[in-house]
Amino acid sequence: MITVRGKTIDVLFSAEAIDAEVQRLAREVAAYANDDLVVVSVLKGAFVFAADLIRAMHHAGIAPQVEFISLSSYGAGTVGGDVRILRDIDADVAGRPVLLVDDILESGRTLAFARELLLARGALRVDLAVLLDKKGHRKADIEAAHVGFDCPDCFVVGYGMDVGHAFRELPFIGHVVG
Ligand code: IMP
Ligand code: MG
Repeated sequence: MITVRGKTIDVLFSAEAIDAEVQRLAREVAAYANDDLVVVSVLKGAFVFAADLIRAMHHAGIAPQVEFISLSSYGAGTVGGDVRILRDIDADVAGRPVLLVDDILESGRTLAFARELLLARGALRVDLAVLLDKKGHRKADIEAAHVGFDCPDCFVVGYGMDVGHAFRELPFIGHVVG
């Protein structure tokens, strides 16, 4: 347990454990990808993960193009139906392999929407890399090719993820217990 600004946080994944996993994920991607790869990071939650992942990719020997997309889901809704683009990528992905990077795969609605969008624009393939997988909450028919950790069924913060805009800066991932 760690106390941050008066809140008690149960550390689930340490900075060291995350780093080891990020390096492993980069090697996994570099095993088949080359410099034609476009990394699309989903804002805001994935920005820390994506920043570390692309630097790990450098060590693994690939130099991807990096893009950002900001998406918003409204309500429970139907699969993919309620996701909106708040800020789009700049690159033309037609004919190029894409790695879609997000912090957590939960219902899968957001990433299913983003994947379909990029495929509709002619992406050669769209693979998913997520740091955390919250299995058991899936609503869309989607799985990630690259997964860091299975996530316990609780709300987590840190390493880019927030609760009410707080705790994105934490170098570890934890659960606020009180
Ligand atoms: P979904 O897969 O479309 O349900 O959306 C997953 C998104 O919900 C993630 O990218 C996060 O932005 C957010 N999310 C889900 N669970 C958590 C959590 O425990 N902490 C912080 N954000 C979360
Ligand atoms: Mg998100």
